[in-house]
Amino acid sequence: MPAANTYRLLILPGDGIGPEVMGEVRKVAGWFRDKRRAPIEIRERPFGMASWEKYGSLMPDETWAEITAADAVLFGATGSLAQQATISAAERKKGSLLTMRKALDVFANVRPIKANAALLSASSLKPEVVDGVDLVFVRELTAGVYFGEPRGVEKLADGVERGVNTHVYTSTEVERVARFAFELARQRKAEGKPGHVHSVDKANVMEAGAMWRRVVQRVRDAEFADVTLHHMLADNCAMQLIRWPRQFDVIVTDNLFGDLLSDCGAMITGSLGMLPSASLSARDAHGRRRALYEPIHGSAPDIAGKSLANPLAAILSFAMCLRETLGQAEDAATLERAVDKVLASGARTADLAAKGAPSLSTTGMGDAVVSALASA
Ligand code: IPM
Ligand code: MG
Repeated sequence: MPAANTYRLLILPGDGIGPEVMGEVRKVAGWFRDKRRAPIEIRERPFGMASWEKYGSLMPDETWAEITAADAVLFGATGSLAQQATISAAERKKGSLLTMRKALDVFANVRPIKANAALLSASSLKPEVVDGVDLVFVRELTAGVYFGEPRGVEKLADGVERGVNTHVYTSTEVERVARFAFELARQRKAEGKPGHVHSVDKANVMEAGAMWRRVVQRVRDAEFADVTLHHMLADNCAMQLIRWPRQFDVIVTDNLFGDLLSDCGAMITGSLGMLPSASLSARDAHGRRRALYEPIHGSAPDIAGKSLANPLAAILSFAMCLRETLGQAEDAATLERAVDKVLASGARTADLAAKGAPSLSTTGMGDAVVSALASA
């Protein structure tokens, strides 16, 4: 029987490479529970096709009950072609990652991008461009074009199809994510980092973008006069991320731009397989945030089931969970150091290995992290 002050973590492995990378998270989390007495209880439910095959539903009530009862959800990956082909759109929506993000109201998606000294040559960018990059995206996650109405595809009288999605934000939605970003910038400044914010939009063509810019500026002026704010157009931001990524500290942007730009930022680290994320709600009366931790890579069906996937994004997402949900900054730092140590030793999964060089399997990489933990 777990103690009352135990944190309940729910693993949802999901589709594709999800089960493989989450298997390594289970090992790492088990290490912290057993060797460091981390007060965690680890539970698991099938998600995606595994749920469909077992329960005939993508979101049975029991799974939803487990999700809402958990202190944090550790998510693997979503996306399967079989799902698209065989399951109705309504059922897919019920069991989708997007529905879960929305229902948990985890509006602030934090995606740190840090260049790792051992991986400079794995990046497609020049080492001198990448060296020292330490930035974090705050991507708005529960509004914008991902959720806006109207949406859908209709057939016009003449047989022509018309597809519609709507980008929509209220000022309240912009305010809360802006506030989150400014608070993060303040915290980073206290840690000796630059601690400034770039807000990214398309104010030059979108009314909602012009409003985004106005609202972010208003929040800054009213509550965060100590934090420097820059505004940047999204297309320019894509270019600047590749040209001179060290200019960024905190980047706050909407759901769609955040999706695109964070993948772009991923190449700074050398692989999408390296990037963790935390999706957080507002604080409740006890100061706690609901949390969903997810690697930013997808289900990668092309390499699924082959033990080729890099588990580090999922493992580093668990480090974010240790820091944010458990408040165990030291344990989080220990885990991040263990990952650094493994990479410094030259160990690489296939996504990071130089052409023709030997590489570790998914489980090999997870084992290497666990053995590095003892001395990290
Ligand atoms: C991400 C992913 C998701 C998104 C997909 C899987 C729906 O690309 O988290 O970046 O677009 O938000
Ligand atoms: Mg994405």
